[in-house]
Amino acid sequence: MKRSADELRPVTELSSVEQKLVAQAVQVRARAYAPYSKYLVGSALQDERGNTHVGCNVENCAYPSMICAERSAIARMIADGGKHIGKIVIATSSDLPAFPCGSCLQVIAEFGKDAEVIATDTAGKVFRRAKFQDLFPYSFTPEMLK
Ligand code: THU
Repeated sequence: MKRSADELRPVTELSSVEQKLVAQAVQVRARAYAPYSKYLVGSALQDERGNTHVGCNVENCAYPSMICAERSAIARMIADGGKHIGKIVIATSSDLPAFPCGSCLQVIAEFGKDAEVIATDTAGKVFRRAKFQDLFPYSFTPEMLK
C-alpha cells in the first residue's frame, strides 16, 4: 500500500522556514562523527519559540554509547530552554530519505507529539514528510506514568 509518507517531493516545494531547516540539517550532517558506521546524520528542529537547534550523530568506540542526530538536537533544545518540537528535519546518508529510528521517535514523543517530521536526502534535494503520530501512533507517553 502506498502511503503519503512514501511520496518523494522536491525540497523547493517546502516553505522557506522548512527549506532553511533542511539546509541546516544538511550542513550539520557534515560535522557528524561517524567513523564506525560511516553513516553521517544531521538534524535541525524548530521549537515553539521559532528557535532552531541542530545536532549530528556522535559515535563511540564503545558502539552503544553513540547518540543519534535527532536526540543530540533535542538535547540542545532542552539546554537552550526550548520545550516543544514543532518541526524536525533529518538528513541522512541514504538516497531514500530516512525517518528517525525507534529510539529517536520515543524521545520525540516526549517533546513533540504533534511534530512534523521531514526526512531529506544527503544533498537536501528531495524530501518526504509525515506527522509524528503517523510514524509512532502508540508511543509510550509521560501520562502513562501517572
Ligand atoms: N542514526 C541517527 O543519527 N539517527 C537515526 O534516526 C538513525 C541512525 C545514526 C546512528 C549511527 O551513528 C548511524 O546513524 C548508523 O546507524
